[in-house]
Amino acid sequence: MPDIIITEKQIHLRNDRISYVIGILEGGIAAHLYFGKRVEAFSAASVLRRWGLPEDGSLSLQNCALNHVPQEYPAYGLGEMREGALIVRAADGTASCDLRFVSAEIADGKYGLEGLPASFGGNAKTLRLKLRDELLGLDVTLLYAIFDNCDIIARSALFENRGGQPLTLERAASLCLDLPDCDYDLITLSGDWARERDVIRRKLTPGEMSVSSIRGASSLLASPFAALARPGTTEASGEVLAAALVYSGSFYAGVEVGSRHAARLMLGLNDRHFTWLLQPGEAFTAPEAVLTWSEDGFDGMSAQFHCLCAEHIVRGKFAHAPRPILLNNWEATYFGFDEEKLLTIARKAAEVGVELFVLDDGWFGHRDSDNSSLGDWVVDRRKLPNGLRSLAEKVHGLGLKFGLWFEPEMISPDSDLYRTHPEYAMQIRGRTPIEGRNQLILDLSRADVQDFVYSAVADVLRENPIDYVKWDMNRNFSNVGSLQLPPERMRELPHRYMLGLYGVLERLQADFPDVLFESCSSGGGRFDLGMLYYMPQTWCSDNTDALCRCRIQWGTSLVFPPFSMGSHVSAVPNHQTGRITPIRARANVAMSGCFGFELDLNKLPESEIEEVKAVIARVKTLRQTLLYGRFHRLLSPFEGHDTAWITVSEDRREAVLMFTRDLAQPDTDAPMLRLRGLDPALIYTVEETGETCGGDELMRSGLCVALPGGDAASVSLTLRAL
Ligand code: GLA
Repeated sequence: MPDIIITEKQIHLRNDRISYVIGILEGGIAAHLYFGKRVEAFSAASVLRRWGLPEDGSLSLQNCALNHVPQEYPAYGLGEMREGALIVRAADGTASCDLRFVSAEIADGKYGLEGLPASFGGNAKTLRLKLRDELLGLDVTLLYAIFDNCDIIARSALFENRGGQPLTLERAASLCLDLPDCDYDLITLSGDWARERDVIRRKLTPGEMSVSSIRGASSLLASPFAALARPGTTEASGEVLAAALVYSGSFYAGVEVGSRHAARLMLGLNDRHFTWLLQPGEAFTAPEAVLTWSEDGFDGMSAQFHCLCAEHIVRGKFAHAPRPILLNNWEATYFGFDEEKLLTIARKAAEVGVELFVLDDGWFGHRDSDNSSLGDWVVDRRKLPNGLRSLAEKVHGLGLKFGLWFEPEMISPDSDLYRTHPEYAMQIRGRTPIEGRNQLILDLSRADVQDFVYSAVADVLRENPIDYVKWDMNRNFSNVGSLQLPPERMRELPHRYMLGLYGVLERLQADFPDVLFESCSSGGGRFDLGMLYYMPQTWCSDNTDALCRCRIQWGTSLVFPPFSMGSHVSAVPNHQTGRITPIRARANVAMSGCFGFELDLNKLPESEIEEVKAVIARVKTLRQTLLYGRFHRLLSPFEGHDTAWITVSEDRREAVLMFTRDLAQPDTDAPMLRLRGLDPALIYTVEETGETCGGDELMRSGLCVALPGGDAASVSLTLRAL
């Protein structure tokens, strides 16, 4: 059960497995004392001694003593020499802040954040820890929540200007965690287009190490996530603490190793091009960060994030539902299609058992290339003379659901929208805007633009029977200017953009609860917990090469569960890598997420069509396990030629094992794969081979898995308890 215990000098948040302890030191400084495995009571003396502080919590704040205090929310300016969580500039131009304890309140349930995505629900308890700077008249309420079913501490901070002068927030982090030592490896996810989320591991060294984005999106290059693992931590064992942001815009996630070898983990809005003006009476909320701890290695860490996503992030009717097997026409046709071509593809899809046909880019305006028409969300009658409704109905007539691509946050200079409303684009007065993929970004900080974007999508959804939307975002910020914001608020634009976008998505969620939304950003360029709050799945990468996908999906799974990852079988040679891999490898890797196709099935030989039919039938019987089972990584593509993972159903009676080797090796023995997550007391049959083995044997001795020959050799095995 989650519980929060407040005593005179301590606040202790805990569930059955983890504890988070805050100390209130003399003078009302909120100190961080402990986060990790549950403890019954916390004396604090040892930890304070480690930091060189009096064991009774007394504190002299002279001589820059704050620099050695582990703080919950350190502010710049009064003796804190490390990078702090908060920088506040007063009207006189100085920056200082002295936050002292005012009150601590406990409430049942999970706090919510107005206008921002945030974890919700379940059996949770909330702590509101109010701190105040009397001179500035600034109240900072630190929000914490603890759940009973996952080992997650959710955090945010609320800033209220109750004084008489304008204050400027120059930094307002979501989470700061002071750790008494720095004996950790930092794990981050970094990548680029078509190679998202490589796992990067480096030893902490003095100074700052971070990943960040100033791109207006969490981005292809880095994820708003950071983990600290004790050296030697593996998938199966070792202590890890990790944090992620429930946010999709520019961010910072980093660690500073400073004086006394202490480490400080910090995540929040990227402050490099950010400030927020708080006039008297105004308030600001920092995006949510979520923090987890596990002693069961990276596997244990991921289990907590996956539980969070399933139970506390993804909303609506698709949260626990089987996701439709889809076919998307993008790589089959690109912009060159008409109704008949699409229906020919859809017919074949229906014949093999696909459930949803998605019409990608190119159906609107006069969009024959990526040069035009974003913003003109009106069907192109040259390609679809009978309109969208007719196409959707014909697709429905085939027994398929119908889905549609949008890129609603964008505007093409060659569009009626731009000709009518050039002021809708983000821009800097007097400068020629820099295009990206020949397009500009809509200024979603503006209410009129928010309404336009909502209506553009909502009108199409109301007028046509549409079951699914792919919401794309294909360029990052430049020309960061708004014609509506005053100069003193211009640095608020990137965050105001996100608030505007979240507002639009909230309205669409509420008004179209039956539409399944999939988020996309040049592939997986905005794969984060913020977008997952509004859209239950994300297109993982434009790269659908089976071998690249082993790496991409492995890295993605550190934080995100299979049900959140769009993963499709595409044609060979692969359009991104030129590589030819067997259909089996492509299917085995793709079925570990929201399964689908990205090709014209009419072009496959009959033998492969039979294989596709069999795979689809198999995915339909196994998808509850594949999507919502417990996912365990077994062999890492970052460490060798092999990738293996297993997904085990909740009752541990069914499991699907995926094993792929990138390059054939001469004279290599079939490896013993030590499985995980099975019930040691149960006996399992491997359906494809007929062999029978105990769960204990499969996990301790392993399963010897023979691969077919050739490169990209792959097997997928079903294990079922007798
Ligand atoms: C992005 C997406 C692709 C596709 C194209 C269409 O690149 O990631 O899947 O939708 O846009 O232009």
